[in-house]
Amino acid sequence: MIGTGYVGLVTGTCFAESGNQVTCLDIDEEKVAGLNDGVIPIYEPGLTELVKRNHAAGRLKFTTHPDGAIPDAKCVFIGVGTPQGDDGRANLSALFGCVETIASRIKEDAIVVIKSTVPVGTNRKVAAKLKELTGRDVDVASNPEFLKEGAAVDDFTKPDRVVVGTVRDEVTEVLHELYRPFLRTERPFLSMGWESAEMTKYVANCLLATKISFINEMANLCERVGADVNSVRRGIGHDQRIGFSFLFPGVGYGGSCFPKDVRALMAVAEDTGMTSRILAAVDEVNDAQKTVLFEKVKAQLGEKLSGKTIGVWGLAFKPRTDDIREAPALVLIDSLLKAGATVQVHDPVAEANVKAIYGDKLIYGEHHYDAARDADLLCICTEWNEFRNPDFDYLKHAMAAPVILDGRNLFDPAEMAERGFTYEGIGLSA
Ligand code: UGA
Repeated sequence: MIGTGYVGLVTGTCFAESGNQVTCLDIDEEKVAGLNDGVIPIYEPGLTELVKRNHAAGRLKFTTHPDGAIPDAKCVFIGVGTPQGDDGRANLSALFGCVETIASRIKEDAIVVIKSTVPVGTNRKVAAKLKELTGRDVDVASNPEFLKEGAAVDDFTKPDRVVVGTVRDEVTEVLHELYRPFLRTERPFLSMGWESAEMTKYVANCLLATKISFINEMANLCERVGADVNSVRRGIGHDQRIGFSFLFPGVGYGGSCFPKDVRALMAVAEDTGMTSRILAAVDEVNDAQKTVLFEKVKAQLGEKLSGKTIGVWGLAFKPRTDDIREAPALVLIDSLLKAGATVQVHDPVAEANVKAIYGDKLIYGEHHYDAARDADLLCICTEWNEFRNPDFDYLKHAMAAPVILDGRNLFDPAEMAERGFTYEGIGLSA
């Protein structure tokens, strides 16, 4: 398994858990040394125990030396990052670096499996590159990953489906065998061509992102016309063609996947001479949604925020992760600081990552109540469970003014009014 990020570490660990011998390879020496000592570089529920158990059992190894990982492998998985380049396209330099590393070491009948999210056409290019470097046809398979941060182990071990793209049935069979332990009870193993598998990954993420931007825009409209988006959600969700899931309005989607994948698929379309108007709108609506809370802050306190103290609950792009990549909270914090506010923040696990960027520009509350203390206003950016049931009386007295702007619609507006709070969510009627 090349790459010990989210996808690589979870995949490698889960394959070890199902009885395989797995060696994870990474160029980051510190990370590998940590993993060998049981230090897991990401916050992911359940992962630490699994890594330690399989490492102790000798089924899971970590190394920085390709020779210790590749020559014996029947399958070489690539799970390295494909970050967004300046032009919105996925940067594949790490991936093709791996291909070179593999080419000189891979055994005759091994399969190269690409787990990283890659633009359509990449598997074909990897196969061609391997042929150029080795002089033979090396088997290549696309195997996109659908796991969610914060639920990664569960998503991997109980997948909704497994998708593989191959050009040879024998390769499909090997991967089917590998995934069989996770495919009990009607979980489909779907085999298709390279391009279809690559496209499946992008289409899934882009449709989910589209749902979010759609409901966010509708929520903003609900506010303007005096409708309540929660009622509307109930009103539409019972139609089975629509459903309830992934239609929660908020402060915009973040993370390492949706923003990047929407832009990457736009670039894929562009490369064929087509413009994806829908994806452009999804991206634009999302960028705008990240500014909605700040607009609400200004509506409450005015344009100039010097002398004002604002509390922010939640920094991670979503709960149960310490990931702050493209997190809406950071867009809000930047605007608040620029307007001169004093900003007090709290997040159960992402605070250290934020501190690494903002240093002492922010005040870090040990507890979420600390971030609200003496604040003129409190913003909620992430729906951590510990924020769902605060002691409202305590909060009201701790704050300088009882004003909450809730980017995740955690509370009922009528109840908040009864409790004596000025309260606004996203798309809720007052
Ligand atoms: C996403 C996909 O859900 C995974 O299936 C995929 O494997 C992964 O990207 C990837 O490509 O690797 P993830 O980025 O971990 O997973 O996060 P999600 O749980 O999907 O949430 C993404 C964002 O959407 C968050 O900012 C969340 O707050 C937001 N969201 C989600 C909403 O605003 N409303 C919703 O109703 C749902």
